[in-house]
Amino acid sequence: MGLGLILWLTPSIYADSPVEIYQRRVIPLLQSSKASSCSDCHLQGVKLDDFLSSDPKATFALLRARGWIDIDNPDQSKLLQFIAKKPDHSDDLMDQVRSSELKAIGDWIRASVRDPGLLDTPLPELKDLKLDESLIRHARKDRVLNRFVETVWSQFERCANCHSPDRNAKQVEKNGERMSWIVPNSPGDTLQLLEDRDLIHFNKPSESTLRTKSLGRDDHGGGIKFPVDGQTDREWVGFLEDYAAIKKERYANSSDIPKNASIRTWRTGHHLRIKDLRNLSSGQYCVVVLYAVNADGEVDKNAVAISEGRVSKDGTSWGSSLMLIEPSRMRHTGASVAWSELLPDGKYELQWLVVEDSTTSIEEILAMKSVARFDIDSLWDPGHSSAKSISFDAFQPIGK
Ligand code: HEC
Ligand code: HEC
Repeated sequence: MGLGLILWLTPSIYADSPVEIYQRRVIPLLQSSKASSCSDCHLQGVKLDDFLSSDPKATFALLRARGWIDIDNPDQSKLLQFIAKKPDHSDDLMDQVRSSELKAIGDWIRASVRDPGLLDTPLPELKDLKLDESLIRHARKDRVLNRFVETVWSQFERCANCHSPDRNAKQVEKNGERMSWIVPNSPGDTLQLLEDRDLIHFNKPSESTLRTKSLGRDDHGGGIKFPVDGQTDREWVGFLEDYAAIKKERYANSSDIPKNASIRTWRTGHHLRIKDLRNLSSGQYCVVVLYAVNADGEVDKNAVAISEGRVSKDGTSWGSSLMLIEPSRMRHTGASVAWSELLPDGKYELQWLVVEDSTTSIEEILAMKSVARFDIDSLWDPGHSSAKSISFDAFQPIGK
């Protein structure tokens, strides 16, 4: 009987006070150089030490004011739910960080809700503590990855033959293992690899090797992959600048976040060349827009694909690959796209546009009047060796 009483009493006699738990176990976590568990998913705007200061009393009141502590069911506290969240791919280190945070902060919350003095502390007003939820959302890793897929990964068909290990055996033999920087079917691992290999430069994002090589600068072994300042280039720079701003915590609030283009494209392997151009200067930005021709011979109003490029040095030719205009129903899974469904074989009309300003948006380009058109009866095969080559002499002028 007496023994039972002692055992029952022991915890409350020896239990640490909330302040002791906080100082001994929580503060070291906040000061630790290891990332907080939040950064497994949030790249900016959300770190434990944004919400937990060195003062346990003030922190408790603040977290309560935010609604992150449930004094009736401490184990159900929102803060503990945030900490317990685990991404699909988590490593051992982060698992350790997560479990020590859960234990220490959980014990502190459980001890605090039993402390009448703490419960009586008046809550601060939340007015100036309001979180910028759009910025938190924008800086989430999964959102960053979505944007990477939509803007950069979506164009990798232009690079994969030489840079994806499932296709580039010959290139690797010639130029070494550094040729492989794409991880097939895995945009997340690819982005990580690009960072680890220093092919993305966070201090000068637009000078990232990933971009400069694509533009044919730095003696790129693969030549020019897309035109400087064109649609693809602007999307890539947009992604790189945005990602760097998040990593460097340069956004003060969500109004600093630049707007995204509303039309997305997906690069295909269908190559197109146009020869015998005349009266165009070298480097002129030109675009081909592809429209499906329906069974009744009617040209569809909505464009299926576009292709952008600059006129060759001698001013007579132009070449690029088709970019599928993303239909709204298309979902980016990051893995593969059913080309044959989205760009089926059939009749198409190609429209030729000379676009004076390469920074013109796709929306504006699609609204422009084409000067010449060309009909094709069937789609050609993807791949460089089966590129479609058309003489400009075969184009028909539009609207004379
Ligand atoms: C496994 C990924 C993951 C981890 C880890 C994570 N979050 Fe989140 N967080 C999300 C997601 C996803 C959302 C969007 C809302 C949702 O789906 O719950 C979100 C939303 C939020 C929001 C904004 C809106 C809301 O739901 O109140 C805040 C604040 C937040 N998290 C804080 C944190 C804190 C603090 C941590 C670390 C203790 C953390 N998160 C850890 C994924 C995570
Ligand atoms: C026809 C083959 C080919 C294609 C297609 C190609 N490249 Fe390359 N790329 C090379 C060769 C060869 C090298 C090695 C020589 C060099 O550094 O330029 C290289 C090197 C690179 C490097 C430097 C890698 C390193 O770690 O040294 C980057 C980054 C790169 N390319 C980006 C791209 C991007 C982005 C695309 C697509 C938009 C692309 N390349 C398309 C052939 C190609």
